[in-house]
Amino acid sequence: MASLYDYMRLPMDPSSEIAQKRYVAIRSFFNWALKEKLVPRKRELRVLDLCAGTGIAGAALLETLTEWGIEASLTLIEKRKEDLLLVEEWLSGEREVIGIVGDCLTELPKLRDFDVALLWGHSMAHFNPFQAAELFRRVAKALGHDGVFLIEETDNFERLFYRGRYRSPHVEARGDDWTLVSLDEGYSRKNGTMLVGFYKLPGWEPVERAEIRLWDLAGIAGMVSMAFERVGIVSKNEHGIVGVDDVVYGAFPHRA
Ligand SMILES: C[S@@+](CC[C@H](N)C(=O)[O-])C[C@H]1O[C@@H](n2cnc3c(N)ncnc32)[C@H](O)[C@@H]1O
Repeated sequence: MASLYDYMRLPMDPSSEIAQKRYVAIRSFFNWALKEKLVPRKRELRVLDLCAGTGIAGAALLETLTEWGIEASLTLIEKRKEDLLLVEEWLSGEREVIGIVGDCLTELPKLRDFDVALLWGHSMAHFNPFQAAELFRRVAKALGHDGVFLIEETDNFERLFYRGRYRSPHVEARGDDWTLVSLDEGYSRKNGTMLVGFYKLPGWEPVERAEIRLWDLAGIAGMVSMAFERVGIVSKNEHGIVGVDDVVYGAFPHRA
């Protein structure tokens, strides 16, 4: 079976104009975040990009830090190697980049002393509440005492209830001669996850069946507060950058 990310590539594929515009927007956001000191302004920073895809967010932060005269290194964790290899295409020169192909939950305990951890591009859907609690605990441990965790997300309660998604098949992506649609195929009360089937049209060719958690922002922030001292939500209106969604942050990891 193919991966749904073979089709939902435009927002992160370095050769797509949509992704290039998104990269510029993410850089603007990090520029804003540095001015606001949401990202710490140290002489050297170690950045960790989780569920990195092509590393668009980590690379955008690395380039922005370089522009600010801050030395930085980047570590990326991503399940799919083929996308991880594309990170170089976002970078303008020689940079210290380490790519880890694997699961964030398994790899995080091996990592320490990062300054910034990113979970960018609506990746929370891949974690059910139990996995999310574990993920946040492990991120907090992988950060230094003044580290910060930034999560770009959307409020799915709003999407579901106000926009009526899943009352009919939902169009996820379109190519010249194909359409990727998703269907609600079940719900797990115990995990709070939907089973979503992705199909390629015409022909209803199965692409992937994914267990997805549709989070709301306050739900994420509430869980982040178990692992971080200071927690907040920067709304799209507050940062004002078109192309970057709401951002949940956690700063000062709790030390057990
Ligand atoms: C929504 S995409 C976001 C990618 C990237 N952060 C961006 O902003 O474009 C989520 C990515 O997470 C990866 N992924 C999902 N679950 C993962 C896990 N447990 N560990 C590592 N990668 C994971 C997927 O392969 C996919 O590339």
